[in-house]
Amino acid sequence: MRSIRQRLTVGYVVALTLAIVVFGTVLYYNRRQANLTELDSRLEVEAEVANGLLGELSRSLGRLPPVLQGIQGTLQGFRHYVVLVGRDGTPKLTVEPTGGSLDSTAVTRLLRLATESDQTRWGTAAVFPGRPDLRYYVTGVARSDPELRSILVGATVDEVLFGPSDLLRAMLYIAPLLILVSILVGSWLARTSLQPLESTIDELTAITDGKSLHRRLPVDPAATDELARLSLAANAMFSRLEHSFSAQQRFVAEASHELKTPLMVLRVGVERALTNPKMPAESLEPLDESLEEINRMSELVDSLLMLARADEGRAPLAVEECDLRELVSEAGETANILAEANQILVRTDVPSRPVLLPVDRNRIRQLLLNLVTNAVKFTPAHGEVRVGIVDVDATVQIVVRDTGIGIAAGDLPHIFDRFWRADPARTRDEAKAGTGLGLAITKWIAEAHGGAITVQSRPGKGTVFTVSLPRSVAPNATPVV
Ligand SMILES: Nc1ncnc2c1ncn2[C@@H]1O[C@H](COP(=O)(O)OP(=O)(O)OP(=O)(O)O)[C@@H](O)[C@H]1O
Ligand SMILES: [Mg+2]
Repeated sequence: MRSIRQRLTVGYVVALTLAIVVFGTVLYYNRRQANLTELDSRLEVEAEVANGLLGELSRSLGRLPPVLQGIQGTLQGFRHYVVLVGRDGTPKLTVEPTGGSLDSTAVTRLLRLATESDQTRWGTAAVFPGRPDLRYYVTGVARSDPELRSILVGATVDEVLFGPSDLLRAMLYIAPLLILVSILVGSWLARTSLQPLESTIDELTAITDGKSLHRRLPVDPAATDELARLSLAANAMFSRLEHSFSAQQRFVAEASHELKTPLMVLRVGVERALTNPKMPAESLEPLDESLEEINRMSELVDSLLMLARADEGRAPLAVEECDLRELVSEAGETANILAEANQILVRTDVPSRPVLLPVDRNRIRQLLLNLVTNAVKFTPAHGEVRVGIVDVDATVQIVVRDTGIGIAAGDLPHIFDRFWRADPARTRDEAKAGTGLGLAITKWIAEAHGGAITVQSRPGKGTVFTVSLPRSVAPNATPVV
């Protein structure tokens, strides 16, 4: 099942249905027992009344026929089956309620019940075929009458019992209604009780977007429920995360910063040594290589410092209105110079009208440089690189397209990760060596401007990077004065 809410609703409906079934069954058996007890005492009272009357009539009238005549009206008034059995075992008088079904077989069965024993007793027996059982009471007739032996008073049980089918029918009528009500109540209950959880999930999602670790979940200090404890635990986790994140960012920023000066000193030293005419020729090559490595390391340190500052929110944009065409043309020229050695054709497509956008000139320059150097770096000889601007309504798109080696579909989600390079073995050769920070910085620059970067690529065919920039100023930008 998809959500806790659905599970709670179904659980509630099942629990309620079970409760109704159990309650209904208990109620049914309880009522049935109570009704039977009540019928038993009614039968007993009727037998006692008949017995008393028989005694009185025998004493006053003596012979049996007038006695039977005298008592018949009273017995019919009971509206039950009554059998007076003679000492010879024959029925002396039988009375049945209106609609009764006393035939000779039934009378024989009743006689058997009445004469089975001389003890006063209650019982239930099947007397009328196809009809409900008979509940009966048998007792002896008072000794004052010499001809009568016992009296049986009985009633079919349907008089007091409603059968399981009646109950089932009643339940079937109300079950759909009950289930509907329980679904509504259940889902309402689940929704209201999970509402705070839903808002906590929304808050958590907002916090974990990567930029809001300083935010905390609101917690009512008086609350001690599970949700409040969960929020407190999550807040404690965010505090620890924020602490270790900022410690890590600070460390990277400080380490990069500390490395800048010694690298500069190294570079100056090596450059001086290279230009020293007394330097033996065999030392020039290693010195040249050292200078190259120092330059690469300086670039890496610059990139690291920039990303660390961006993470800390200490890399504001110096926004000013720029004609994007200039920046793109500049990047095209740089690409041309880089591409010359490999005979890669570089084409720049810019609109004829100015494309004015509020951007940080240097950052966008860096973004374009990263994209075109990648395009040239990963395009084999005689390929083509195109840099262009697409002026769409709400946004302006910078598109860098190449006919290079492309990026495997599985790698695409990682290319903007820091230090990620497709295949370290592939990029080991000098020309393609890089730190894997270029695209991470590019993405940050696009997003800092309120824009986005997307990539499409087909291995062996080429890659297209599209940077969309909004026409309005990014919210965290600082205008140049
Ligand atoms: N145009 C492209 N064609 C094919 N692969 C590319 C292209 N652009 C980037 N990639 C892949 O993405 C990886 C990451 O690119 P990114 O620019 O971040 O790092 P890099 O170029 O290796 O190093 P850096 O730019 O820091 O010097 C590259 O190593 C490469 O594997
Ligand atoms: Mg790069």
